[in-house]
Amino acid sequence: MTDHITLTQKDLEQDGFSKNPFFHVIIAEVPEKYKTKDGHTKIGFSMYFYIYSWKGKAVFMEDLYVMPEFRGKGIGKALMSKVAQLGQAADCTQLKFTALNWNKTALDFYLNQGCVDLTSDLGYHYLCCHGDAFQKMADKGSG
Ligand SMILES: CC(C)(COP(=O)(O)OP(=O)(O)OC[C@H]1O[C@@H](n2cnc3c(N)ncnc32)[C@H](O)[C@@H]1OP(=O)(O)O)[C@@H](O)C(=O)NCCC(=O)NCCS
Repeated sequence: MTDHITLTQKDLEQDGFSKNPFFHVIIAEVPEKYKTKDGHTKIGFSMYFYIYSWKGKAVFMEDLYVMPEFRGKGIGKALMSKVAQLGQAADCTQLKFTALNWNKTALDFYLNQGCVDLTSDLGYHYLCCHGDAFQKMADKGSG
């Protein structure tokens, strides 16, 4: 989905590593001897931030990624568990996230961890107001 990404490295540095970060991130790193053929030792991450709902504090996992050659070794589960643990330490009672309906690997992975599908179970839809609609909405707010 690289054609959907508009973020730059500068955005990430600014938004995640300033005084009041918009997001947090956990990096999975392997010892030098296991580095990839391109020389990477940082081989996975989970990005998260805090949200609020009628059930109170929740942690939202925006992304979870493990490089293909390191999959199936428990790293994805460990990254997700760490987000849950940090969320719980911050008094959250839920870990929320989205997955695309065609991403069967990810859906199976999440359902396998005991997570539930709010779309099929409760009819929730994940909505977004962007582009012109977002601009129009904001314009009305400033009037
Ligand atoms: C989804 C993803 C993060 C899983 O990471 P991973 O490191 O391979 O997963 P793990 O090795 O930690 O697997 C943990 C558990 O999930 C299970 N699992 C992993 N992949 C699975 C799959 N495709 N189907 C069913 N179960 C799966 C494992 O068997 C393991 O279960 P166990 O603890 O009972 O043995 C990884 O496949 C990935 O990065 N995918 C691409 C990015 C992506 O789609 N991210 C999700 C965005 S919504």
